[in-house]
Amino acid sequence: MCIFAACVFLGVLLFPPYPCLECPFGCECFAATHTVKCVSKDLLIVPQNIPGYTRNVIITGNNIHQIGPESFTELQNVTNLILSNNRIAELASHTFAALPYLRSLDLSGNQLALIHPEALSIPGSPLQELNLSRSLHNFTALTDLATALRWGGLWGLKRLDLSGNHLALLSPGMFSQVPSLKQLFLRNNALVAVYAGTFSGINQLEMLDLTHNNFEAFKADALQELERLGSAQIFLGHNPYTCSCESRDFVTWLNKTKGRVDVDMVRCASPEELADVRLQRLTVQAVGCVVPVLAEGTDLTLQTSYVFLGVVLGFVGMVFLFVLYLNRNGMKKWIIETRDACRDVLEGYHYRYEIDSDPRLGHITKTADVKDIQSLSTPSDQGALQKGSCKRS
Ligand SMILES: *[C@@H]1O[C@H](CO)[C@@H](O)[C@H](O)[C@H]1NC(C)=O
Ligand SMILES: *[C@@H]1O[C@H](CO)[C@@H](O)[C@H](O)[C@H]1NC(C)=O
Ligand SMILES: *[C@@H]1O[C@H](CO)[C@@H](O)[C@H](O)[C@H]1NC(C)=O
Ligand SMILES: *[C@@H]1O[C@H](CO)[C@@H](O)[C@H](O)[C@H]1NC(C)=O
Repeated sequence: MCIFAACVFLGVLLFPPYPCLECPFGCECFAATHTVKCVSKDLLIVPQNIPGYTRNVIITGNNIHQIGPESFTELQNVTNLILSNNRIAELASHTFAALPYLRSLDLSGNQLALIHPEALSIPGSPLQELNLSRSLHNFTALTDLATALRWGGLWGLKRLDLSGNHLALLSPGMFSQVPSLKQLFLRNNALVAVYAGTFSGINQLEMLDLTHNNFEAFKADALQELERLGSAQIFLGHNPYTCSCESRDFVTWLNKTKGRVDVDMVRCASPEELADVRLQRLTVQAVGCVVPVLAEGTDLTLQTSYVFLGVVLGFVGMVFLFVLYLNRNGMKKWIIETRDACRDVLEGYHYRYEIDSDPRLGHITKTADVKDIQSLSTPSDQGALQKGSCKRS
């Protein structure tokens, strides 16, 4: 005990406590490196009297629930702010607005449930790195974040870490207002698909990490979206890929990427007989699994038979029209004959009508039976009528 006390006394003598004099309780201050560390001290708020020379603030493993603009006054010189593992649940509007030189912000390992749309706004957009790994509490926080990324004016942000957040989907255009992004970490999430527009607005990407997600395949639109990222290095390993005919586009694409993708890590998880086989190694026969190929074959024969039927019908139609054309004179004659015959018949009707409406013949109509009336009309017309067609007598 005495020895310990002596040591402490000696230590204080030998290492002047000058920098610590103006150091907040529970923190260590390093004037030479412009650094302040407050590690695992159960702090409930960000300490207030951090020295003005500080450039690096490391406050981790505490119990700080909420931070806002009041947390960081008089800290103009801070460039790196590490606030990881503090149980921070809420980011208020303009939380970091008083830090005009803040380049790197680490909020990893928190439980952000409420992120104000302008939480990340800083005048002059100095932020270049933002670490939000394992920091989003739930899906609501993700939507909040998407808004904050759009409203934050993060024009200079180059590196964004969103890994370990259980993300199942990314809202389209989520990164559209982060145009300088060069590195995007999305590993250790639950992503199942990339869609057209997922990465819209990102044009300078150098690295995209999609490892350790739930991708089973990349469909044509996803491949197009990845292709849009130009020469960026893309990490796709450690996903549960299903190797089937549907992976064919993906395999072809992998074959074309030439070192831009970690192809050696892209391996089948299923079916069992292909487990751990590299997708790029698969031949068309291996991926072009037997059943779908057959199905495609039958499809093809079906299509062929439809085409054949169409051709035959077309041919028959042509022949019919050709025959009609050859017989055009006969046809003309036939039409004229038919017309004349019909005219005769109509005249016959007309004649009978006159008989019917002739008052002098009224008694005949009334007393005589139908046969008598028929006997008044011409025999030729009767014949035509009985046959039921218009024919010249
Ligand atoms: C920031 O650093 C500069 C130069 O190192 C110094 O003059 C200034 O006083 C510092 N700001 C504060 C608030 O201490
Ligand atoms: C973000 O923080 C986590 C844990 O704190 C760390 O492992 C990771 O490397 C950081 N990301 C980047 C891009 O530095
Ligand atoms: C996310 O968490 C917050 C705070 O606990 C809660 O209000 C919100 O309803 C949760 N959202 C979802 C989708 O569970
Ligand atoms: C991919 O390339 C390998 C060898 O370079 C080849 O054996 C395989 O058939 C190719 N696969 C596809 C789908 O093009």
